[in-house]
Amino acid sequence: MTGQRTALVTGANRGIGRAVAAELCRRDLRVVVTARDPRTAQATAADLGPGACPHVLDVTDPTGVMLLRKELEHVDVLVCNAGVLLDGRTDPLSAPLALVEETLRVNLLGSWRLAQAFIPSMIRRGWGRVVLISSGTTAEFGGALFGGAPGYSLSKSALNGLTTMLAAQCEGTGVLVNAVNPGRVRTDMMPSGQIAAEDAARFIADVATLPVGGSNGGFLTEKRSHV
Ligand SMILES: NC(=O)c1ccc[n+]([C@@H]2O[C@H](COP(=O)([O-])OP(=O)(O)OC[C@H]3O[C@@H](n4cnc5c(N)ncnc54)[C@H](OP(=O)(O)O)[C@@H]3O)[C@@H](O)[C@H]2O)c1
Repeated sequence: MTGQRTALVTGANRGIGRAVAAELCRRDLRVVVTARDPRTAQATAADLGPGACPHVLDVTDPTGVMLLRKELEHVDVLVCNAGVLLDGRTDPLSAPLALVEETLRVNLLGSWRLAQAFIPSMIRRGWGRVVLISSGTTAEFGGALFGGAPGYSLSKSALNGLTTMLAAQCEGTGVLVNAVNPGRVRTDMMPSGQIAAEDAARFIADVATLPVGGSNGGFLTEKRSHV
């Protein structure tokens, strides 16, 4: 593939998503900075410079995703970062299921919707990189989940399962699909995190720009991660 690549990052207005968008801009990709709020999408893209362009996107909105797909000529790199942690400090017997439902709508179905919208054209073009932002609460691809945020843990565990299925479907097409555990990153979601968003973003950007023959269907964790 030649020419400038285009990356789409969900939830790019703050936290890890914003740092990933900035890092991909630094690596000379054109970055579609998506956010739920148009003003923050615009302000973030303006901050990141001419390589970034803003788009409104709520990953739970099928119409919005469809319109975005129609508007963009192509997307080479998809970073499904948008996520919520709504049921912290609960447990499986007390977690309000309305919160679990909303968590699954954003963390699992939102990422899945984006994958369905953008992976087919990557396959047709013979090149693509998809990164699903997972979590250490999932115990990788098996084992005990963290029960202190049960809906969140399940959503990310299901995201790992989705990663393996998408990766299997993309095998041999030039499209690589991987889950990343960024570790405990200092953001609004995890104020006590030890890792700076910029450091996590460098690792995520590495996975988003893997060379031909790179990992497909992996659960990738940077070595210094403590999660
Ligand atoms: N921080 C950590 O230690 C850590 C560890 C493991 C995994 N992660 C994962 O990393 C990702 C980013 O987390 P973060 O720490 O950067 O959290 P954050 O600061 O809370 O940012 C979350 C981002 O997701 C966006 N978002 C939420 N719901 C959305 C929706 N329906 N549609 C589009 N965007 C939506 C938010 O947008 P608004 O501003 O509009 O709310 C925000 O941009 C998440 O998937 C999270 O689960 C984080």
